Amino acid sequence: MSIIGIVSMKGGVGKTSTTANLAAALAAKLGEHRVAALDLDPQNALHWHFGLDNWQTSGISQRALNLGDWTNAAISTPFNVVCLPYGDATETERETFELLLAEQPDWIGSQIKRAKLDHDAVVLIDTPPGPSVYLHQVFACADLVLMVLLPDAGSYATIPAMESWLEQGQCGNPLALVYYVLNQTDQGEPLNRDAAQWLQQRLGKRMAPIAIHADEAVSEALAFQQPVLAYAPYGQASHDFAQLALWVINTLNQ
Ligand SMILES: Nc1ncnc2c1ncn2[C@@H]1O[C@H](COP(=O)(O)OP(=O)(O)OP(=O)(O)O)[C@@H](O)[C@H]1O
Ligand SMILES: [Mg+2]
Repeated sequence: MSIIGIVSMKGGVGKTSTTANLAAALAAKLGEHRVAALDLDPQNALHWHFGLDNWQTSGISQRALNLGDWTNAAISTPFNVVCLPYGDATETERETFELLLAEQPDWIGSQIKRAKLDHDAVVLIDTPPGPSVYLHQVFACADLVLMVLLPDAGSYATIPAMESWLEQGQCGNPLALVYYVLNQTDQGEPLNRDAAQWLQQRLGKRMAPIAIHADEAVSEALAFQQPVLAYAPYGQASHDFAQLALWVINTLNQ
């Protein structure tokens, strides 16, 4: 089992889109029953990318409180990715779940093992922006952490804070690999191009070698509740996610 955390200091940089589309791209390479996408963000948006707007069972936050574990929490989707939604939790349920996570820092890792996924499954975890109990849980169990950045000054400004997370040993798994991933690159925009260069110079080999281009098909795919690989299989973003998936597989196998 491999666990990949998708994180960022800033909101709106594309964590959820990357989680969903990378999961679909990994499933296209690895086949059925191998890829799971876990939503650890109370926004509860990840399942939309897989067309699960009418799913009836409770999400992982409610299961944690009512049942105590995640057995059978994973929902099949038409995209060969099983999805574990956060669930439509009330304010009280969210607060109680977060207290549980604060008290047991390895709770998510142990629940993933009990979610009846294949032993060689790859589990991608979507997180809310910035420091949180969810982020601590991900750092405790992830084998690979992908920090999503936009090529802009705002993302550049968050690098010191992200670097200090890592230096302070926030990564509970000392063997975890950490890479930055650029999202929404656009060579036709001078500021975007310059910012991508600053980030590449600053981060060097810690930048993943594949960036995701800005591509309106990413937003359109969400409107149609599909991964972009299903919505526009021959588009730029689909190509990028396929390449990123190959790099992730190689990186996890090293
Ligand atoms: N490569 C891309 N090209 C074009 N649009 C994109 C791309 N990636 C993400 N977007 C769009 O950017 C917006 C924010 O994306 P998303 O919701 O994935 O960000 P997020 O980091 O998960 O946000 P939050 O911090 O609120 O959880 C969405 O409208 C999404 O469709
Ligand atoms: Mg999100």
